[in-house]
Amino acid sequence: DWTSESFVESTVAELKADLGNDHVIMALSGGVDSTVAAVLLQRAIGDRLHCFFVDHGLLRKGEFEQVLDSYKNMGLNIKGVNAKELFYTKLAGVTEPEQKRKIIGGAFIDVFDQASKDIQKELPEGSEAKWLGQGTIYPDIIESISVKGPSATIKSHHNVGGLPDYMKLKVVEPLKTLFKDEVRRVGKTLDVDPNILNRHPFPGPGLGIRILGDINEEKVRILQEADDIYIRNLKESGWYDKVWQAGTIFLPVQSVGVMGDERTYEHVVALRAVGSLDGMTADWIHLPYELLAKISNEIINHVKGINRVVYDISSKPPATIEWE
Ligand code: XMP
Repeated sequence: DWTSESFVESTVAELKADLGNDHVIMALSGGVDSTVAAVLLQRAIGDRLHCFFVDHGLLRKGEFEQVLDSYKNMGLNIKGVNAKELFYTKLAGVTEPEQKRKIIGGAFIDVFDQASKDIQKELPEGSEAKWLGQGTIYPDIIESISVKGPSATIKSHHNVGGLPDYMKLKVVEPLKTLFKDEVRRVGKTLDVDPNILNRHPFPGPGLGIRILGDINEEKVRILQEADDIYIRNLKESGWYDKVWQAGTIFLPVQSVGVMGDERTYEHVVALRAVGSLDGMTADWIHLPYELLAKISNEIINHVKGINRVVYDISSKPPATIEWE
């Protein structure tokens, strides 16, 4: 019988045996998966686990600071890396979703490469970090290999598939046999910060795939503000914990509105909230109209640049959770 306690015990023992005195480098995302994987690794090898957390400029509002703080409180050996400019520069003018994913994945590897060189320099004489830690879970693997026609992946999850050869790091993925709910149970056993444990999943490319069309700093700012209002209202109303994943999507259209005597021509955001077990299938959540009304009013009144809010009532399949 699977229990989270026995999983922790056997995994920590296996990691100790596999890793010996080696050092491991790991990029954390602020999400449940990479955090729980890191805490397991830390149990096994302590500060020989070297983590960093990249701000690609596509995180939620205030997320970089909050997550870094909770990692430090959990005793993880972690550094924050601000790489916003690099990502915005590389993404400028790019509209095609898979290309955005590839650029974000590629820029991430560049940042990762630099950060791991910096970490290597700081290691004691004679030691070398030979391993890359990853928070890959079972559904990531399935979805990356599933095909929809001749060899076309449904979506290229950029955290699967490892790194280019030149990095020569071996990959350690302690959660790759688990589903999301099992990862949460393991995290609870490991005393992971409940704020991180109960967080909705958030895609690696972040708001980059929630801004349809091209990305720029202004759109990121607008989306962050709207999304912050949405998520705060979900939390205050008790709906956040009843929803598997929620997010706000910035649409590449403008629509006509009216403010006072003025005609406006501004952007539209869509709100998405789904229930799911593992992200493979999902149903849209019937949020109360009163709550949707409150959120819509708050967004339109407080976020300059948005004059219309819509609610996504599609389930997966045939829609996907993300819009890109
Ligand atoms: P979809 O949109 O495929 O999403 O129904 C299923 C789950 O996967 C997340 N997702 C991603 N996660 N990199 C990630 O790390 C990605 O490129 C990516 N695309 C989707 C999505 O947020 C949902 O939880």
